[in-house]
Amino acid sequence: MTDLSPLDAEGVSAAVEEALAAFAAASTLEDLKEARLAHTGDKAPISLANRQIGGLDSADKAAAGKNMGMARGRLNKALESRQAELEAERDARVLVEEAVDVTLPVEHALVGARHPLETLQESMCDVFVAMGWEVAEGPELEAEWFNFDALNFDPDHPAREMQDTFFIDPPESGLLLRTHTSPVQIRAALARKEALESEGRGIYVICPGKTFRTDELDATHTPVFHQIEGLAIDKGLTMAHLKGTLDFFARAMFGPDAVTRLRPSYFPFTEPSAEMDLRCFVCGGEDTSCRTCSGTGWIEWGGCGMTHPNVLRAAGIDPDEYTAFAFGMGVERTLMFRHGVKDMRDMVEGDIRFSQQFGVEI
Ligand code: PHE
Repeated sequence: MTDLSPLDAEGVSAAVEEALAAFAAASTLEDLKEARLAHTGDKAPISLANRQIGGLDSADKAAAGKNMGMARGRLNKALESRQAELEAERDARVLVEEAVDVTLPVEHALVGARHPLETLQESMCDVFVAMGWEVAEGPELEAEWFNFDALNFDPDHPAREMQDTFFIDPPESGLLLRTHTSPVQIRAALARKEALESEGRGIYVICPGKTFRTDELDATHTPVFHQIEGLAIDKGLTMAHLKGTLDFFARAMFGPDAVTRLRPSYFPFTEPSAEMDLRCFVCGGEDTSCRTCSGTGWIEWGGCGMTHPNVLRAAGIDPDEYTAFAFGMGVERTLMFRHGVKDMRDMVEGDIRFSQQFGVEI
């Protein structure tokens, strides 16, 4: 083929027509790409002709430029519109070919999820971690000393008796399954006492975990349950700090309208001691025949108080210099209140239909 001259309007037009026909004939994007390279690529007659313009007399340059400009304009326009057409065709085809029938039956592979008690326990801890508290843990198989003696229980305190506590054989082993998370108070205090005394670093710990009592499994009792324990030791802590912390915790768990109340009580390891109640979430204290709160308007959530000086002493901390508060609540009870779970057995029987209602929180 002889070289196409940029001045040869007819020849250029014929080359353009040829290219347009090839573009129109391209039935896929790949074909179009090939046609584009063949007719507008470096070696295409049109491109070669275009390149000759520079070498022309200035008298001819204008005519050649106009010629080629028009040719390139037509080519680009045709390419663009064919490209758009073919893309639209492809998109429409993909939609049909790759359509997924979401109504088809599928085999369900169950996704594992953690138990709601676990995830609740974690979100309870999160409330405190966000305030700078530390999470502390202790053993479930505990020394009687940590579980009772260090917590100021009298040697003949009724809670030590067989009907409440799982003791470990032989009796002289001094071991039991912890009946509450309070022994972690002593362990946490012992481990941090050094930093408290030398650096004045207050102790703020939250301790979640399993606890054990010789209860029969029924709607409101289970022999294995969970508690979450809080302990703060610092200079100048008062009951007001305790109440403020509990109010904050209650609102984080039950929403901004949660109302709490402290009611005088007794624990060997706190003085003064209190039960912490929540305003009944069913009747709001309005219904004297409410079955949830037995008409009292309040529901018991946990125990708390100012740490007894003997407990601080057991951890080697001077009660004249430091004061402390502690609290402990049941995780199962919290789950019951928050989610309207009526029967504790649902939490321990392992029927996944129960857990599934809480979703796949991981
Ligand atoms: N350990 C107590 C219980 O199991 C709860 C509690 C914790 C009370 C901390 C006061 C302070 O009932």
